[in-house]
Formats: sequence, structure tokens, C-alpha cells
Amino acid sequence: MTFEQAKQVLDNNGQMHVLRFWDALDIGERAQLLEQIAGLDFESIARMRGMLKTSAAAAAASEPTAPAVVELTADAHAAAYAAGEAEIRAGKVAVLLVAGGQGSRLGYEGPKGAYSIGPVTGRPLFYFHARKIVGLCRRYSVRIPFYVMTSDANDAATRAHFEDHNFFGLDRNDVTFFMQGMWPALDEAGRIILDQPGHIFMSPDGHGGTLTALAKDGCLADMERRGIHTVFYFQVDNPMVEIADPAFIGLHVARHADISVKLCAKREPKEGLGVVVERDGRFEMVEYTELTDEQANRRTAAGELYFKYGSVAIHVFSFAFMKAEADKAMPLHVAHKKVPMCADDGTVVKPEKNNGYKFEKFIFDVLPDAKTVVNLAFDRAEEFSPVKNAAGNDSPATCKHDMQTKWLRWFKAAGIQMPVTAAGAPVFPMEIDPAYALDVTDLKKKGISLRAE
Ligand code: UD1
Repeated sequence: MTFEQAKQVLDNNGQMHVLRFWDALDIGERAQLLEQIAGLDFESIARMRGMLKTSAAAAAASEPTAPAVVELTADAHAAAYAAGEAEIRAGKVAVLLVAGGQGSRLGYEGPKGAYSIGPVTGRPLFYFHARKIVGLCRRYSVRIPFYVMTSDANDAATRAHFEDHNFFGLDRNDVTFFMQGMWPALDEAGRIILDQPGHIFMSPDGHGGTLTALAKDGCLADMERRGIHTVFYFQVDNPMVEIADPAFIGLHVARHADISVKLCAKREPKEGLGVVVERDGRFEMVEYTELTDEQANRRTAAGELYFKYGSVAIHVFSFAFMKAEADKAMPLHVAHKKVPMCADDGTVVKPEKNNGYKFEKFIFDVLPDAKTVVNLAFDRAEEFSPVKNAAGNDSPATCKHDMQTKWLRWFKAAGIQMPVTAAGAPVFPMEIDPAYALDVTDLKKKGISLRAE
């Protein structure tokens, strides 16, 4: 993009101030700024500005209700499992991981997937995800393409991490990294914020950016070429996720769903999990920050929480639905934040108060477009223990504990009684490579016995 073109496009969009330090910039800074301007998505920026102008009071929406949730009986589980296995075996399933966020709440520098979580080996989150795919490929003698979404901040480090670990045993031809989009932040007046005289402040566009990024980077075309029909989606922070759980996939396929969502009973009414609701005949996710106290605490006549289930961001998409959604403009979510800002004299100011608006898209905002949605309940002790905080709930300590107690249950079911503490935790740290045993059935087949040395 030339300077003249940049001027034109900024002028057309009321953003000429972006060039106000131009005369003072050196050649490198000028080239960097022009490149950033060329990459700006002015259509979305216009929507962001519109959002800042309209009053925060949303149009009165009708009251949401709790959706029907499937709890599989043993027979229904077996049938769904068989259908899911057929889908996987036929090579129709892809796995999609969103790993664009940083471990800021965890206080970890670097891609969150590189965070060490193995109770014995200290292996990283990525290891537990990748080795499950290795296990599935072996079990079903199939290639399962793995798409990993990164962001500007962690793309190079994520690729290097996979290289350093020899792709954890995956076939590198089946692993695709793609980068999510970046958006500028706006000030109160809707102007793009510069964080240096020659640099626009940018931040990731949220995991809703997955669909645009998949389309832009050719991943949707790659899925189509490979004959993918069903896409399993999950977040980087939960090493207990049952990747491509055949029962979940099978139920989704059998019901011809556009999207399926895994739900677990919330720990407490205000737990930080999104809640699927039904409103005017359509499904939507109400984020925990948006659920009112009354809604969070509402009880049924039987005393159960009315919005009992939370979403753990484990989804299955039909490829056709995903592709159709990639062409649509998703709703925007805005957050008022502290954004480093370049003052008029060119100095960089770290604000003490929130001074800028950051915008994001959320993947679950495709829900209202879905004709058929399956909400499947599952037991969180088996599949969900995310690493979000440095200490307390959802921390490395709770996650390692939950991983190990799950493995203890496997050993017990396989007839091996491991030594446990009074609290039921293992006496010594333990760990199972998912490629060795994906589940208790695999473990039983190994015919292990415990010997006293
Ligand atoms: C998220 C969900 C919440 C769900 C919970 C389950 C949102 C807004 N909320 O909350 O509904 O119940 O997980 O654990 O997501 N990511 C990107 N790019 C981004 C932002 C995030 O790839 O721009 C990825 C992160 O790497 C991570 C995941 O999305 O894998 C979740 O992000 P995070 O901000 O940790 O979400 P939560 O607030 O924990």
C-alpha cells in the first residue's frame, strides 16, 4: 500500500489521525505502519464505531429458558459411540484447537499450550492433546487432520514448540497452524489507537475469529479436499478433554446437528462458564459475565439450579455449517480496557484508567443460526479440569489432581488397586500417555498387573 492509498482509505473512514506522526517516522516505521493499515478490516471497524455510538441499553429481549439437554443412557451411549467410530474411521473427522490466547491469568509467558502439566513428566498441555490424536489415528487406522489456531503473539513460539517435540508423534503433514485475526482498539471517539507514533495497537479478534481465519488461511479448503464432514473443537486449557469423543460425534451426526455443545453441571451458580439458553425458538450462549444474579440463582421447584449446566467450550460442528458461518459477520463483544496510547507529543502513555475499547468475536455466537443443536451433558470429573488460574479453582494443582484421580479410576476398573491417600489422591504421582491408553478399555487390554518389588 502506498502513502497516498493509506491516506485515502483512512480519510474515507475518518481515521486520518493515524498518520499524524508520519513526518517524524523513519523508513522502517513508515513501512510497518503502511502494512498495518493495509491489513485493517474497515468493515468491522465501522461496526465497532457503530456499537460505541449506540446506547448500551439493548432492545428488550424475551426471557431465556433452559434448553433440553441429552443425558445418554448406556444403550444410547453405545449406539452413539458406534456411529461416531464409523465417522472417525471413515476419515471424516477433523480436530480444531483454539490456542490463540495467552496464559495471562495463569501468569505464564508464552503459548499456554506449552505450559507444563504432566504430573510425572511435566509434559505440556499440547502433549496431552496431540497424543490423544496419535492414539485415535492408531486405533482407527486413519489420518485425522489437526488445525491449531494461534495468534500474532504466540504463532512462532507454538510452531517452534511442536518442532522441538517432533510434533509429539503426529504426522506433521496433518498438522496445520493458522493465525487468528487482529483488531485495533478504539478510543471513546471511535478513533484507532496508536501505541507508538508508527504503530497501531492490535489485539486478537477472539475465538470467534476462528471461522474467518480458517477460511482466509485455506483451512476450510483443505478440509473440503480431505472430505471432512465433522469438526471437533476444543480449547487449549483443558488436558482432560476427550478429543473426538465418539459418542459425542456419533450423536451429532445421527441427529444431523449443525453444532453440538458439551455441558456439565456448574460447580456454583456464578461459575465462570457460559450457559446455553433458548430464546424465541433459537439457541444462544449467555456468557457468565452477562447472566444476571437472578438467572444464575434461579431454582426449579425441585430445588435444582434452573440454568444448571455450563458450557465447557467443547463443540462439534458440521463442516457445512462451519463453512456457511465463515461468510457471516459475527456479533461483536466490547470490553473497556487500559490500552497503551501515544500522546500528541509522541510519548507513550500507560493509562491508569480504562481508556480504550477492545472488540472480540465469540465462536458460540453461531448458535442462533443453527437449525439443530445437540446439548449433551457429561460428567465433569471425566473430562473437564481447565488450567486457568495460578492457584485455587481451575489451577495446575486442581488439574493434576483431577487427571490423576481419573487415571486411578481406570486402574481400579482394570483390576489394579493403586495406593491412595485418605483423601483418595494417588500416593505417588502418576501419568498415562494418551497414545498408550486413550481410555479405560485400552488400559484393560494392556493386561498390566501390579507387582510388589
Ligand atoms: C471460556 C468461554 C466460556 C466457557 C469456558 C470453559 C469465552 C468468552 N468464554 O471462558 O463460555 O464456559 O471457556 O472453560 O470464551 N482464545 C483464542 N483467541 C482469542 C481468545 C481466546 O484462541 O482471541 C482461546 C484461548 O487460547 C483458550 C480459549 O479460547 O483456549 C478460551 O479463552 P479464555 O479467555 O481463557 O476463556 P474463558 O474466560 O476461560
